[in-house]
Amino acid sequence: MNKKMIITIDGPAGAGKSTVSKMLAKRLGYIYLDTGSLYRALAYKALKDKIVLDDDSALDSLCSNISIVLKKIDGQMKVYVDGEDVGDKIRTEEIGLTASKISAFAIVRQRLLQLQREAGAQGGIVTEGRDMGSVVFPHADYKFYLDADIEERIKRRHKELFGKGNTSELQSIQKDMLVRDKQDSKREIAPLRPTSSSIIIDSTKLSVPEVIEKIIQQMSSK
Ligand code: DC
Repeated sequence: MNKKMIITIDGPAGAGKSTVSKMLAKRLGYIYLDTGSLYRALAYKALKDKIVLDDDSALDSLCSNISIVLKKIDGQMKVYVDGEDVGDKIRTEEIGLTASKISAFAIVRQRLLQLQREAGAQGGIVTEGRDMGSVVFPHADYKFYLDADIEERIKRRHKELFGKGNTSELQSIQKDMLVRDKQDSKREIAPLRPTSSSIIIDSTKLSVPEVIEKIIQQMSSK
């Protein structure tokens, strides 16, 4: 595996994409790019500036007036919004839902496309999101689609939020996740779905190292 490849990992919220992508990137000595954080960056600014979200012209001005910069730090692309390292601030359920909502708009997707392609231009990247294999990197070397049963995804998200001191109820996480699944997969532009060349992995009963092994196996067998 000498070539600096582009590896995409798409899938629904809570399927384990971030953990798997981060570990895979580390193992390969690649950069890790979490594209959800770019949509979250826009949502963060929209909420901060109290922008009415289904108004096209407000989204237009949001997209024109935001500075989003990706900086390569410790093998990861970190996101800066108007010069601010937004780090953990964008990892809330509210921002996730808002990001999902605004991600259905063409202007938002267009605003972030170039940024994502530039980040992957040199290869040597593991990038995760919803449309990595279908739209952003259609010529990726390997396209994975990571899925898991909804109950398992809810449990994982609950554990993750709990670890960060957030005591959201399972029920409210379930509600948010169903909304996000629907919004992300039913939208007209770049909906979440595997491509014809995606390798689908169901992680419901697998640990993170087991998922990584499956990915590495697939990559060595092709
Ligand atoms: O991966 P995430 O949960 O941080 O992403 C937040 C939202 O951003 C997700 O619900 C939909 C949107 N998104 C997208 O539309 N396309 C991507 N490539 C990544 C995220």
